[in-house]
Amino acid sequence: MIRRFPDGFWWGAATSAHQVEGGNRRNDWWRFEQRPGATRDGRTSGDACLHYQRFDEDWALAAADGHRMHRLSLEWSRIEPEPGCFDAAAIAHYHAVLGALRRRGLTPLVTLHHFTNPLWIADRGGWENPETIACFVAFARFCAREFGGEVDWWCTVNEPEVLAFRGWSEGIWPPGKHDDSLALLVIANQLEAHGRAYRAIHEADRADADGDGRAAIVGLAKHWVGLVPDRAWHPLDLARAWFEDRVFNHAVLEAPRTGRITLSIPGAGSVSRRVEGLAGSLDYLGLNVYTRWRVRATGATPHVASRGAALTDLGWEIAPRILEPALAAAAASAVPILITEHGFADAHDAFRPRALVESLLHLGHAIEGGASVIGYLHWSLLDNFEWNDGYLGRFGLYAVDFDDPARPRRPRRSARIFARIARENGIAADLAAEAGLAL
Ligand code: NOJ
Repeated sequence: MIRRFPDGFWWGAATSAHQVEGGNRRNDWWRFEQRPGATRDGRTSGDACLHYQRFDEDWALAAADGHRMHRLSLEWSRIEPEPGCFDAAAIAHYHAVLGALRRRGLTPLVTLHHFTNPLWIADRGGWENPETIACFVAFARFCAREFGGEVDWWCTVNEPEVLAFRGWSEGIWPPGKHDDSLALLVIANQLEAHGRAYRAIHEADRADADGDGRAAIVGLAKHWVGLVPDRAWHPLDLARAWFEDRVFNHAVLEAPRTGRITLSIPGAGSVSRRVEGLAGSLDYLGLNVYTRWRVRATGATPHVASRGAALTDLGWEIAPRILEPALAAAAASAVPILITEHGFADAHDAFRPRALVESLLHLGHAIEGGASVIGYLHWSLLDNFEWNDGYLGRFGLYAVDFDDPARPRRPRRSARIFARIARENGIAADLAAEAGLAL
């Protein structure tokens, strides 16, 4: 063994409802996808992976591969399709999903908001509207009461900063706006919603699903991205990288610790808010980590990959070291960290085996250096609908054939490699060599 992980380390994978389930027309993403040009390949989520029907087969794959935890999301628009009206069939469905996970020996980590909003929320202004906060908190309370007997691990909101910038600044996700000051408001409203949902979930979920003495363990998933100046000598690149790192990474990390939301973008204003109940609202911090960007203050594209770097199918730099600075930045949160997503778009599994093992060696190194990491959930179990990239980004340990109406799954080599790491709770020398690492 060249690297061992702490006893009880949570190995598993992650998915999100809209990206895998298929067949739901009640959320803002579905509506947005229908616009011509909304996705890069012109495809809509459609039937996605047919996971709504085939969830138990998918849990069987994860369980057979030694996963112990699975991160999934509950689709708000299915459970509460109209304000205050809860759909009995959708609720029964998610009980079946959670029961199936448990029967397969997988611990669920449930995300309550993974980018999608019911149409009725979107039509009232979505996260721009402060009333969405109370609606979301009510939904979180409902789910905590309804599903608390099956769920201990909760993730309130996924990547509030990514949702805000993609939807309100770049305009490539719903609602398709270009207004940085609204993006800041959208981050702040989601962070406030997190703080209030944290308290609501603890009040409503008193059922200890696995008998370990804890009924609810609540966090959020923060997307941490490396942002470095492209030209280290260029004052404008330095300033822009600093401001972006501040608003995107540090300000979001700080809010649930301090209870104060302080967000600003030069020229676009700022938001400063103290939220009751937000301070100390993390039982764990979820980190989604993928890559880093070099930041340029001039020219057409503000974010570029390092020159000569190997890139994923989506053009993101393959950066196996990136988990280390991410963990260093998150250390100030002073709570256990769970890697809630990390992965690579690689349809042919050409570089994923090696990049995955190399990344996990860096993760192990960080843990040895004192980082308090309790688990690693790979994005994703299955290829799935990658938002505005349509089906171009293939992140799955399992490949899915989206041209076949039956959506067959096929294990990639990475699935086998990851399974062995999960089962052995460590990285064996021969496995690292098999993945292409010269030690
Ligand atoms: C983070 C998001 O949570 C997920 O929905 C997305 O598919 C992955 N990153 C890959 O981009």
